[in-house]
Amino acid sequence: MRVAVLNGVNLDVLERRDPEHYGGLTLNQLETRIYEWARDLELLAECRQTNSEGEYVGWCHEALDWAGGVIANPGAWTHYSYAIRDALALFDAPVVEVHLSNIEEREDWRRHSVIADIAAERVLGKGPEGYHDALAFLAERGS
Ligand code: DQA
Repeated sequence: MRVAVLNGVNLDVLERRDPEHYGGLTLNQLETRIYEWARDLELLAECRQTNSEGEYVGWCHEALDWAGGVIANPGAWTHYSYAIRDALALFDAPVVEVHLSNIEEREDWRRHSVIADIAAERVLGKGPEGYHDALAFLAERGS
């Protein structure tokens, strides 16, 4: 099964962000782990990251044609982008919302996710391992 892993705004500078929340890995290191975990679970992951909301929406549209599952970490767009919510809502395939940090235990404005209610599963605050949990969820669902 092919899985679209769509990371959003500011996730390209992960290693420069607060390691307490984001762990200090680079995006490249994170994606390398995701590809290894996917292989072990017999999934085919395709990781993408963008700082452009329109591009993120476009990738959702493209993935409608091929993804058997989606892992979405839209970064700060999570909290207010109805455009990304509408794009993710188009999927019949399961969408897993992942955040490295626990957005429910941070600032008030981060607690609200506009994609929470369309997600088949949510993984919060588990760091990079959260992507593993999301892949495992999709592997289980797809089998
Ligand atoms: C994040 C949490 C968001 O609130 C934040 O804006 C991010 C990363 C996370 O993975 O913990 O950029 O999505």
